[in-house]
Amino acid sequence: MNILAIESSCDETAAAVVADGRKILSNVVYTQVALHAEYGGVVPEIASRKHVEKISSVAMRALADAEMELRDVDAVAVTYAPGLIGALLTGISFAKGLAYGCGLPLIPVHHLRGHIAAGYISETPIEPPFLALVVSGGHSHIVRVDDYTSYTVLGHTRDDAAGEAYDKVARVLGAGYPGGPAIEKLAAGGDSKAYHFPVANFDDSPYDYSFSGVKTHVVNLVHKLRQSGDTIPAADIAASFNATVVKTLLDKFFAAAQQTSLKKFIIAGGVAANRLLRNEFERRAAAAGGKAYIPPMSLCGDNAAMIAAQGYYECMAGHVAGLDLNGYPTMNIADNYSRK
Ligand code: KG4
Ligand code: ZN
Repeated sequence: MNILAIESSCDETAAAVVADGRKILSNVVYTQVALHAEYGGVVPEIASRKHVEKISSVAMRALADAEMELRDVDAVAVTYAPGLIGALLTGISFAKGLAYGCGLPLIPVHHLRGHIAAGYISETPIEPPFLALVVSGGHSHIVRVDDYTSYTVLGHTRDDAAGEAYDKVARVLGAGYPGGPAIEKLAAGGDSKAYHFPVANFDDSPYDYSFSGVKTHVVNLVHKLRQSGDTIPAADIAASFNATVVKTLLDKFFAAAQQTSLKKFIIAGGVAANRLLRNEFERRAAAAGGKAYIPPMSLCGDNAAMIAAQGYYECMAGHVAGLDLNGYPTMNIADNYSRK
C-alpha cells in the first residue's frame, strides 16, 4: 500500500511516499527556516503563504523521487492537528483535492503520532508497546504507546515546550534561529556546570514538565549582565541550559518508565536531534535495562515520511476522513479521528 503524505503544520512544506507504513520511497522537505530566521521565530502568515506556493511542486517531487505517478498511490495522508491553523489548512486543502480528484481515501494524521512513527521507518523499527519522549517546538510529552493508534499521556509540559525554550534562550543570547542547533553549537565550547538553573517539579503530577522557569532565569541573567556592562559568558550559559533541559527531560521520562514495565524507549520530534539528549537517552535506557530507539536526524524534524508511516496504521484502523476534514491548532494525541 503506497501512501502519499503531506505535512505543513509549521514551517516545513513536506511530502513523501511510504510503502506499507515501513519503506520510505521518497521524502521531500522544503524548509522555510531561512525565511523566518530574521524574525527569530515562525511567522504564521508567512508560513501559510509559502506552503501555498510550494506544496504542489514538493508533492510532485515526492512522486517523481518515488518513481511513481498519482495512479500508483493508494491513499493520501495529511497532518490535520496540532499546528498553525493556516499552515495546516493549506496541506489539508491540497490533500483533499488530491484525494477527491483521484478517488483515494483521505487519512488524517496527528502530528505527534507522526513524530513517534519516525520509529517505525528507522533502520531498527520499534513496535508497540513502548514509551515515547516527544519533544518538539510546541510539545514535550511522555507518551505510552499501547498500540499503533492507542496512546496514554503520562506527562506533558505545563507551559513552554522544550524546543520553544531553546528558541527563546537562543534569541536572548543572539545565537540565531532555530534555537536548538544554535544553542548546541554555542554549548560546545562551554562549561555545563557553570550555572545552576531551577527545575520545576509538581507533587500532584511528577511526570509533568515546565520549562518557562529555566527560560526566564536565563533571560533575566542575560539582561542583568547586559545592564551591568559585563561580558556575557554565552557558551557557559548555553551549555548549562542544554544540560539542565536534557537532564530534566530524562529524569522524568525514566521515572515514568519505572512506573510502567516497558523496556522499549524512543525519542521523537525536533529536539530529538540534540546530541547530548541522544547520547544520554541511550545511556540511561541501558541503565534502566531497556533498549533505546533513536530515529536518524533526518526523521526527527518535521517531515512527511513519518506522516505516511502513521497514516498507514490510521488507515488500517479505519480512520478515514471525509471532505469535511478540518484542521485543529490543538488536539490530544490520544483522541482518534472520528467523522462527526
Ligand atoms: O518537531 P519540530 O521540527 O517542529 C515542531 O513540531 O515543533 O521541532 C522544532 C523544534 C525547534 O524548537 C528547534 O529549536 C528544536 O526542535 N530543535 C532542537 C534541535 N534541533 C531542533 N532542540 C535542541 N537541540 C537540537 N539539536
Ligand atoms: Zn514537529
